Amino acid sequence: MEEKISQIQTEYLEQIQQAQSLKELDEIFLGLFGKKGQLDLLPKEFGKLSIEERKKVGPLFNSAKQNLEQAIERKRGEVRGESYKKLANEKLDLSDTKLITRKGHLHPVTRLENGVVTLFKKLGFTQYGAPHIDSEEYNFELLNIPQGHPARDLWDTLYIDPHNLKVSPGELLLRTHTSNAQVRLMKEFKPPIRMMIIDRCFRYENVDARHEHTLDQFEIVYIDKGVSMANLQYLSEYFFQGILGKDIKARLRPKYYPFVEPGAGVDGLCIFCKGKGCKVCGGIGWLELAGAGMIHPQVLRNGGIDPNVYSGIAWGAGPERMAMLKFGIENIRSFKSGDLKILEKF
Ligand code: DAH
Repeated sequence: MEEKISQIQTEYLEQIQQAQSLKELDEIFLGLFGKKGQLDLLPKEFGKLSIEERKKVGPLFNSAKQNLEQAIERKRGEVRGESYKKLANEKLDLSDTKLITRKGHLHPVTRLENGVVTLFKKLGFTQYGAPHIDSEEYNFELLNIPQGHPARDLWDTLYIDPHNLKVSPGELLLRTHTSNAQVRLMKEFKPPIRMMIIDRCFRYENVDARHEHTLDQFEIVYIDKGVSMANLQYLSEYFFQGILGKDIKARLRPKYYPFVEPGAGVDGLCIFCKGKGCKVCGGIGWLELAGAGMIHPQVLRNGGIDPNVYSGIAWGAGPERMAMLKFGIENIRSFKSGDLKILEKF
């Protein structure tokens, strides 16, 4: 037994000495002290020995156990020290590493809209906000579009399900246009008024390359003494030239909207053919870019403004349509699709 103990000790001390890694040392440890390890099994044989022999073997076994434990611990320290030294000496050359950077930019519609806001701020227009979820009163009734009026069919409206709300069906809707801001701002401010709204609207739309259910509109409201269609003509051209180029003329064409009188479709000279007629403008030479007109006297009255003293102009334009023209984007759905392949080009 004594021989066996010293044999295990010599053999394992040598293995410990030669070990290079913590993993090897763990294996050696388990081979000795683990379940069924050499030093775990030995004491089970002590029962067979005489008392005399046990007296000798006991202390020998204990000292071998201690020696081996200490040797493993010492070697662990050495191995760790080695790997720290290796790490400390290791040099990582980062000078040649190219960092992959992706530079983002504003969405093309946001860029265009920021340009529009800057343009009209210069003329003293202030931005105004109105609710996306609104009553039919502000979206329709106060704009001369009573319930049941055929003009309501001009807007395919998304109504809010009144479930659990204290409103009747058809009372709340997602605003179909930024014109819902008109009477609100008239009630809030006294003329002279120069305001702009550039924001989201919603339609129950058959989506295609030119129509989206979620769209932006740019609305202006200008109310003062003596405001006329001449101001509308001037501001339309100022708007188109500021965004699409100096040579884009504007023309007003009679068009019906219930909240203006007279009403106009505002066309911009086709930016592609400059009036000659092409595929984009359908051979007409002009593109409709906004709906507009002189604010109807009844709408002014609804906002608490006397139409005998003041007159006003308003328009609503589609920034996305303008962005399509400006950046040559064919499908309006590209804007909100999140398709970076398209958006990254602009
Ligand atoms: N709100 C109209 C639409 O969504 C556009 C419009 C037409 C706005 C005439 C106006 C206006 O302010 O005067 O189609």
